Amino acid sequence: MFQQLTQLSSDTILGVMAKFRADPSTEKVDLGVGVYRDLTGNTPVLASVRRAEQEILAAQTTKSYVAAAGREEFNSAVEELVLGSAHIARRERRARTMQTPGGCGALRVGAELIRASAPGVTVHISDPTWGNHTPLLGSSGLRLERYPYYDAAAHRLRFDAMLEHLEHAAAGDVVLIHACCHNPTGADLDPAQWQALALLLQRRRLFPFLDMAYQGFAVDLDADAAGVRLVAEQVPEALIASSFSKNLGLYRERVGALIAIGENPARSDAVMSHMLQIARSIYSMPPDHGAAIAARIFTNPALKQQWLAELAAMRTRIADMRELLSRQLQRVIGDDAFDFIGMQHGMFSLLGVSPQVVERLRDRHHIYMTPDSRMNLAGIMPHNAAYVAEAIAAERRA
Ligand SMILES: Cc1ncc(COP(=O)(O)O)c(C=O)c1O
Repeated sequence: MFQQLTQLSSDTILGVMAKFRADPSTEKVDLGVGVYRDLTGNTPVLASVRRAEQEILAAQTTKSYVAAAGREEFNSAVEELVLGSAHIARRERRARTMQTPGGCGALRVGAELIRASAPGVTVHISDPTWGNHTPLLGSSGLRLERYPYYDAAAHRLRFDAMLEHLEHAAAGDVVLIHACCHNPTGADLDPAQWQALALLLQRRRLFPFLDMAYQGFAVDLDADAAGVRLVAEQVPEALIASSFSKNLGLYRERVGALIAIGENPARSDAVMSHMLQIARSIYSMPPDHGAAIAARIFTNPALKQQWLAELAAMRTRIADMRELLSRQLQRVIGDDAFDFIGMQHGMFSLLGVSPQVVERLRDRHHIYMTPDSRMNLAGIMPHNAAYVAEAIAAERRA
């Protein structure tokens, strides 16, 4: 059976993590792995999560199955969180939501749904994009193509080139769009750009697949979902993958949702029946524990208030570290070449240097990031910002 299988090289990010762990230096800085860290370097269990979890465990009387679509109260709370309470797709009963194992589960089920509905379409993904988009979408057999998104050397969006590319996509093609806190660039569309994109999607009859993994990490829950809501208002059909790994710190519990918006309620019901069948054929039912915690927080006003304060604290800490690192870089370099770090959103920015520079930062300074020079700003601390800035200044030329 297995004679044909040869050893695969490890995933890039896992390789960076392993090298970091093996480095005995006391100065080492981890800007690689994509999880939030507090000022002590820990990825904490939020207090709101701990409280909800304790209440759930105290009240739980069974571990029997919940349902193929997951928890109803989770799904309706997620729909409201993502689309808002008055969205037209909800008013017209065209949105259907299914709990999934993380955002990855939602992306995978979404990819299978697209392949079942329209096997010949191309999925257009941003260049660059999160490394896992390619296997999650591509392994369903869909054809992937990249649209220009960001110029890493110039540190700016390639919005005109993006629109130009999509202008030539075939009607019915799928466009995967990061909702906010673009991974790996940190560069998001502004409201006018969202508007222009939504109009193009509508006019060219392209199908948006929106990926929202960082709602609340840029500005707040509503502002971060504004682009998603706008697009979902302008087009007849859409898919939205939502993840609660980051904003609730529930990474290992695998909490996410797939929202499908159809042309009319009957079509949406049909789409939901296919989503359930696809889920059944991959993992049968989503894990419950994390979704139970999320649902309790979303539906209990006191817990929700506590969570919103904790979410704001995570967001502020990352924004502060962006600001601090860009100020330190300005101090050592003497110009504003790295000011973009302070202006972007979410955990990631691309430093915009070559893989050789990334290697030198690692080998000479014990600073770890992925070869594309993606930095997780949550790895910056008040005590290491100057050190990181000085190392970047020393090594930044190829
Ligand atoms: C852009 C993007 N989409 C989706 C996900 C999926 O997250 P998870 O499956 O952990 O919920 C991530 C996680 O890093 C991400 O960065």
